[in-house]
Amino acid sequence: MTTTRVLTGITTTGTPHLGNYVGAIRPAIAASQDPSVEAYLFLADYHALIKNQNPDEVAQSSREIAATWLALGLDPQQTHFYRQSDIPEITELSWVLACSAAKGLMNRAHAYKAAVQANDSAGDDPDFGITMGLFSYPILMAADILIFNAHKVPVGRDQIQHVEMARDIAQRFNHHYGETFTLPEAEVDDHVAVLQGLDGRKMSKSYGNTITLFGTPRQLQKSINKIKTNLLEPGERKDPQDSTVFQVWCAFADASERDRMAQAFAEGIGWGEAKKQLFERVNDELAPAREEYGRLMADPAELEAILQHGAERLRAKSTALLDMVRRAVGLRTYR
Ligand code: TRP
Repeated sequence: MTTTRVLTGITTTGTPHLGNYVGAIRPAIAASQDPSVEAYLFLADYHALIKNQNPDEVAQSSREIAATWLALGLDPQQTHFYRQSDIPEITELSWVLACSAAKGLMNRAHAYKAAVQANDSAGDDPDFGITMGLFSYPILMAADILIFNAHKVPVGRDQIQHVEMARDIAQRFNHHYGETFTLPEAEVDDHVAVLQGLDGRKMSKSYGNTITLFGTPRQLQKSINKIKTNLLEPGERKDPQDSTVFQVWCAFADASERDRMAQAFAEGIGWGEAKKQLFERVNDELAPAREEYGRLMADPAELEAILQHGAERLRAKSTALLDMVRRAVGLRTYR
């Protein structure tokens, strides 16, 4: 039986918010339950260093993200769940790949180009604030993917180019040194919901419009109360289609709950009441996971054990692949 190896990484920066949950975490956990798939999900903590150089924040975010995924039901028996930094073969492979990846390919990476562009617009030196980490980012990501011979890489639209670069890098290596790597493919789910944030734009840390996933119920309620609405009074008919309150509601509601709320909008439900119901709905869904999250955050030893175990189970594969790569490029034992 051939199983499809599906691999994806999460850069460990920031604190998970509702948009991450609806757009990435919930669908990924559902997908990981497919028995025909061998799922790999890892914390891209070396990638985090590119975006954040505050050690305490880096450490905290990694823990929060690990606890979040587990609390929401990711099963570490079923899915390979590990930290990038616990598999040293990934960074070793990254160097070998860097030695054959074209610099010109990296010059074309969107994230790097955007940074150069921003410097240009600001009248700064084009290299201002750009680290070698940012520049080489796609090579490390290629190593993440190639080390386990992943077939499919589910990513957001902004990451497609990076997966294609990984494929390019693998192809070039295979051509020069002989068949070594499986060629990966990006997989983009166009149906995944993009949640709106407090101001109605896409919920994103960079817009500062997020609702924290596992804050206290009080914080959740306060955030929901801040969702931007119009000035229509209770009793006035409201259009669900241009309402963030309704949009967030739909991300949590089933079809009948959705219809009921649409009806309430038509009948002029007040914003205060709609938000109260939204809070209750979201809170009900999150409450059990929030409790588990709290438990895991209070037990770092357990979290650590789960991740160590995840890495240990994979080291045989990663070392075998790296041995093959070393031999292919000529780093051989003298014996
Ligand atoms: N670059 C991805 C992001 O920012 C995270 C990531 C790192 C990743 N390595 C990966 C995703 C390998 C898929 C496969 O979203």
